Amino acid sequence: MKKIGILTSGGDCSGMNAAIRSATRTALGHGVQVVGFRKGYAGLLKGDLLEMTTRDVAGILHRGGTFLQSARSEEFRTVLGREKAVRHLQDLGVEGLVVIGGDGSLNGALALHRMGVPVMGIPASIDNDIAFTDMALGVDTALNNIIYAVDCIKDTASSHDRAFVIEVMGRNSGYLASMSAIATGAEYAIIPEVECDIADLCNQLRQRYEEGRSNAIIILAEGAGRAQNIADNIKDAIGFETRVTVLGHYQRGGAPSVFDRLLGSRFGHAAVEQLLAGEKGKMVGLCCGEICCTALETVVVSEKTQQDQLHDLSMILGI
Ligand code: F6P
Repeated sequence: MKKIGILTSGGDCSGMNAAIRSATRTALGHGVQVVGFRKGYAGLLKGDLLEMTTRDVAGILHRGGTFLQSARSEEFRTVLGREKAVRHLQDLGVEGLVVIGGDGSLNGALALHRMGVPVMGIPASIDNDIAFTDMALGVDTALNNIIYAVDCIKDTASSHDRAFVIEVMGRNSGYLASMSAIATGAEYAIIPEVECDIADLCNQLRQRYEEGRSNAIIILAEGAGRAQNIADNIKDAIGFETRVTVLGHYQRGGAPSVFDRLLGSRFGHAAVEQLLAGEKGKMVGLCCGEICCTALETVVVSEKTQQDQLHDLSMILGI
């Protein structure tokens, strides 16, 4: 292989830059040229790219987001769009592609693989909803962001005898909510994977209020409902005054944690080594601390299943 491409696609996350830098430097170290496509598949379709040298990826490791930028491309979802992408890769002489992104992006990578493009995927999504990796890139940084915010909110909640419903991201996954509930000692986590019993929630909060506790924190995964609706449903039954905080995109940014810097560096290196060794149509992942590699067609049809266990733990510890 003489030239490879790299792109970041879908929702950005911290650690993507570490993966880009590592993949680029690994390839260059093998004498392989690297092009970076801007704004994910959209850049691939437009031919919006940059030739990457080792200096281009200097000074990005500690920065959140992705310096290649990211996007969700409607055109790439179409057969015509994908055929165009394959043609562009051929015209550019790009013989392999590293796709850094979440489940939609990995589905796109699988489509390209099926059209004959050697592709390696790197799981990157704060939702941590991608199977065959214990952690996706960006999850650890997002959790650190969330717990910082929740700790701050607890301070003001306790000054005012208030209950807060704090909405976190995660799309259909409750991972961020369950883990942040455990890590902040929240009273309750509401996640899409487990039906929420509002009466039970109100009883627990009411009891807490009557015991004279100074605050209550409920972490709500966005896929399980809207924070304002939950707050409206419980406010008359729990004693505490209620307030709502939606953490939003704050969760996705910021300097990557050590964990995400190391994970991105390991993933980027492994993806390129695998590609150059002739592997294709696979995703690198983290399995029990080691780098693993799984066929994309297996990854995209598999569900990550640990959320309800984490939820149970968060409920036990929050009481
Ligand atoms: O998939 C990552 C994610 O941050 C989800 O948690 C969230 O629902 C979504 O992306 C937000 O997407 P956008 O940045 O397009 O608003």
